[in-house]
Amino acid sequence: MSKLITVNVNKKPAYDIMLEKDFSMLKGKLVELEYTGKRCCIVCDSNTNKLYLSKFKKAIEGVFDTVVDYTFEAGEERKNTDTVYSIIETLVNNSFDRHDILIALGGGVVGDITGYAAAIYMRGIDFVQVPTTLLACVDSSIGGKTGVDFKSYKNLVGAFKMPSLVYIAIDTLLSLPERQYYNGMGEVMKYGLIMDASLYEWIIEKMYDIHDKKYETLEEMVGYCIDCKKRIVEKDPFEKGDRMLLNFGHTIGHAIEREKNFEFLHGECISLGMVAAAYMSLKKEKISSDEFYEIRDMFVPFNLPITIDNIDPQKILETLKHDKKSNGKTVKFILLKKVGKAYIDETVTDEEILAAIREIHFTEEDMKA
Ligand code: GLY
Repeated sequence: MSKLITVNVNKKPAYDIMLEKDFSMLKGKLVELEYTGKRCCIVCDSNTNKLYLSKFKKAIEGVFDTVVDYTFEAGEERKNTDTVYSIIETLVNNSFDRHDILIALGGGVVGDITGYAAAIYMRGIDFVQVPTTLLACVDSSIGGKTGVDFKSYKNLVGAFKMPSLVYIAIDTLLSLPERQYYNGMGEVMKYGLIMDASLYEWIIEKMYDIHDKKYETLEEMVGYCIDCKKRIVEKDPFEKGDRMLLNFGHTIGHAIEREKNFEFLHGECISLGMVAAAYMSLKKEKISSDEFYEIRDMFVPFNLPITIDNIDPQKILETLKHDKKSNGKTVKFILLKKVGKAYIDETVTDEEILAAIREIHFTEEDMKA
């Protein structure tokens, strides 16, 4: 069943999110957006190029005057300004002007890079998000956060640039490798934990259907998450307040991502971060120990890690304190009051952070025990 959700920015309709089965409804929408006769550049990574590019080009045939594409090697390592400049070079070489369009066909890395290129080329051109991973469908393609990493700092260089359309074809999720699929489940769990206890209950209830990628369940789950994300970004489009709640698990998660040299996927690292943040919530007596263990163990059925070995807690602490989410001396943590309700806590001490990192650290002693 198709679904159309309009996202408002400053109380005015800004862009639509279309939830469809496949790419077949995109062409009509591009015409409606008055893109006929313009130039378009499709950006993919090496994975989405192989899987979807030719099918995608066929689906939009006849809309644009010129269609070019730009592909980069898949991986977080390419999320940098060099890739952005290469996209810009493609646009310049093909005489793109400020009325032409960029389309991001891929996961979060593709969307973030393409959106940033769209934000800065000729002071901003339109771009369309076509997310093809669960993580990008439920989170990164919505809300206009774009950008790239700088050295080892995640998303340090970027801009808010709203897409002109987010087009989700649920079929693309069916071919996701298992690890990529569960990577997105980290963000799905996040919405349940920070803002929607009924989503959390639904995830538990539908666990087996989620495993089996049952089409209706996928559709419902993505729709559920889009509603959550819409609620937050409409209230706080530029992350001055409530949008920060979406960083639940990200402070420690990002530090682990960096320390482990991106060996672990984003959703895996933020799951560890969420377990650590839930532990801090327990220590601050916001949630009970039963609640903590239930939350922690809910990551396991989705192949998401709840412990990690070979980390240096002190190093993780230092790394996260250098993260851009630090506010001078205090680090803002998103903690839980209960399942479905999060808050910003600026009182977490270094000792409490270290204790939470140790909680997720699997050591040789644990092995012997
Ligand atoms: N991915 C977090 C946000 O959009 O704010």
